[in-house]
Amino acid sequence: MSNLSLVFQQVRKPVEIIGVACGEGAQDKRCDCGPDALRQANVCTRLQKLGLSATWAETIRPDSSADDTPLRVVKGICARLAQHVHASALQGKLPVVVGGDHSCAIGTWKGMASALRPSGALGLIWIDAHMDAHTPQTTPSGALHGMPLACLLGFGDDELTQLNDGLRLSPQHVCLIGVRSYESSEAELLRGLGVRVFFADEVSRRGLAAVLRDALELVQAGTAGFGLTLDLDAIDPSEAPGVSTPEPGGLRASELIAASAMLQGHPALRYVEIVEYNPLRDHDGVTADIVSDLLQAMLAVKPQAPDAKTLMETESRYGAHNYEPLPVVLTRGRGVHLWDDSGKRYLDMMSAYSAVSHGHCHPRLIEALSAQAQRLAVTSRAYYNDRLPLFLKRLCEISGQDLALPVNTGLEAVETALKAARKWGYKVKGVAKECVEIIACDGNFHGRSIAIVGMSSEAQYRDGFGPYPTGFVRIAYGDVQALEHAITPNTAAFLVEPIQGEAGIIVPPRGYLAACAEICRRHNVLLICDEVQTGLGRTGRIFACDHEAVKPDGIILGKALGGGLLPVSAFLARRDVLGVFKPGDHGSTFGGNPLASAVGLAALEVLIEERFAQRAAELGDYMLRKLRALQSPLIREVRGKGLLIGVDIDPARASARDVCDVLLQHGVLSKDTHHTVVRLAPPLIVTSEQIDEAVSALHATLAQLEVAADRAA
Ligand SMILES: Cc1ncc(COP(=O)(O)O)c(C=O)c1O
Repeated sequence: MSNLSLVFQQVRKPVEIIGVACGEGAQDKRCDCGPDALRQANVCTRLQKLGLSATWAETIRPDSSADDTPLRVVKGICARLAQHVHASALQGKLPVVVGGDHSCAIGTWKGMASALRPSGALGLIWIDAHMDAHTPQTTPSGALHGMPLACLLGFGDDELTQLNDGLRLSPQHVCLIGVRSYESSEAELLRGLGVRVFFADEVSRRGLAAVLRDALELVQAGTAGFGLTLDLDAIDPSEAPGVSTPEPGGLRASELIAASAMLQGHPALRYVEIVEYNPLRDHDGVTADIVSDLLQAMLAVKPQAPDAKTLMETESRYGAHNYEPLPVVLTRGRGVHLWDDSGKRYLDMMSAYSAVSHGHCHPRLIEALSAQAQRLAVTSRAYYNDRLPLFLKRLCEISGQDLALPVNTGLEAVETALKAARKWGYKVKGVAKECVEIIACDGNFHGRSIAIVGMSSEAQYRDGFGPYPTGFVRIAYGDVQALEHAITPNTAAFLVEPIQGEAGIIVPPRGYLAACAEICRRHNVLLICDEVQTGLGRTGRIFACDHEAVKPDGIILGKALGGGLLPVSAFLARRDVLGVFKPGDHGSTFGGNPLASAVGLAALEVLIEERFAQRAAELGDYMLRKLRALQSPLIREVRGKGLLIGVDIDPARASARDVCDVLLQHGVLSKDTHHTVVRLAPPLIVTSEQIDEAVSALHATLAQLEVAADRAA
């Protein structure tokens, strides 16, 4: 048989997943719920979607007689597991065992070894932070999950070593990878037997791929095949926190996933086992994702994906060049992290211009999205739906406004506000026909429609797009007197960002907004705050207006309202303002659709329950303090509020784009604005440790650029 057809045969072997919902061998028994959680996380379904024949055959659970000792429970589990694995092998299937604690490795190996016995011995690759080579005599904890390797080698309790006719693993057919925590008695036992151990320092020195290649040779020499057992604690807990006994340091998940692809279609691979998943520590599902990715890498035949260079060239060839992205192709996101096509992980300090305040793929929002998508997504406003009213009610409760009008993107909500303000000017304030004026600020950014760029002071945003609608007046931002002077009897509204984001995180003088509110009230002018970027917790209060106890006549929301999943925006206002719209005056096909409403509602609930505003206030202060302590000659100023921060770079020494490019190499994603400002606006779920990480990456970046600037000078 040619190598190729062997490969095909292996690839086509149906995968049979066997869960082992038992944590009796561990001190912390909570990894017993690991298999069920992984099943719910669609580990099997994801394999099926890749075209693999995969089934979740069974989840073995302890017998429920309460006074059984852990040893008896583990023995019972291993015996049943061995039977299942044996049967699965005889049916030509590839068993994938999902633990539970690592004591199940005894049953898995013994079941496969007995099925394979007529053809030869069974080797084993054991990837683990620990050696699992204690015996009942040497164990400090008494926990059986510290003993399975010794047991398979014939050292341990008779009840376990004697399972399946006392079949034993030969020391020369097994190797350990990634060990970094062990007792001397274990090391002595394995050394005495001649077991090859690739300690963590050897792995980091040589690279996991090189070590795995050696291991594969070793476990195949003189065997009829090999199994692979992986204790998830082998991975660095900063990347895979959902394990039962985390140990600092360890393998990089991306390196392990990449190296695992070596097993893809391997003709001698007899089984795969992944154990010690603890969902209670896996708050954002990252570890479950790693399990899925590992199984996909080991078992599935992936179609050759285009590489990053090809993807960037394709986008450049077929897409209009209205953006200039940083050279990174992102493929996955979770929480505050994003991954590129090569598996490299980045800290997201951009949050898609503050649209991802909830973090990437927030589990509650994903749940709301998928549940609603499967029920009802888009109906148009030609009918009522059962989600929109709840969303509107919550929006009004949170903002203290009377009415809300849902649309999709930020600019649509701004347009809605402009239309409402004009109509209010004519119908309520009584401005003469075609004479209404709206005041905006220099440096504003409210979106990119023709009316909106018409209000802009930025030459590039306007160039080539005129003629523009009239009726807009611009004044200096942060200047109360300028507002007072600009108001005429025809002024309907003053449109303002509480902090100017796109302009470079410009924070106006203290008291500015409150003074504007007073002036507007005195002149019967609507104060409309564009909180598309600053709203929903970003600056340390639910609305940035709250810092000055200002209740505007209208608020524009967008970005984070869609939970980082969908475009959802709204204009909220007093009854007399939004009340000017009659059916047919304004609308949007997708605005207020059930899917957007369900996600928007969930985004608001998460915002309140997870205290985003308080987090942004505390962590924003922390981040500002750390950034201000950096003392780099490249920094002109650090400014911002909450987690909306700008670092102003001295253009004589470097551009903000240079900083973002080097930050990218250091694993941090940011984006420049106006050539001199690096914006730092992480998801509001960021932790102080992640902020430390980002600040030290910026520190290293600035030091690097400082040397380059000095050299150039
Ligand atoms: C304050 C503000 N308003 C409006 C917008 C426009 O939002 P969108 O890009 O969703 O149209 C933005 C976008 O950055 C913004 O920052």
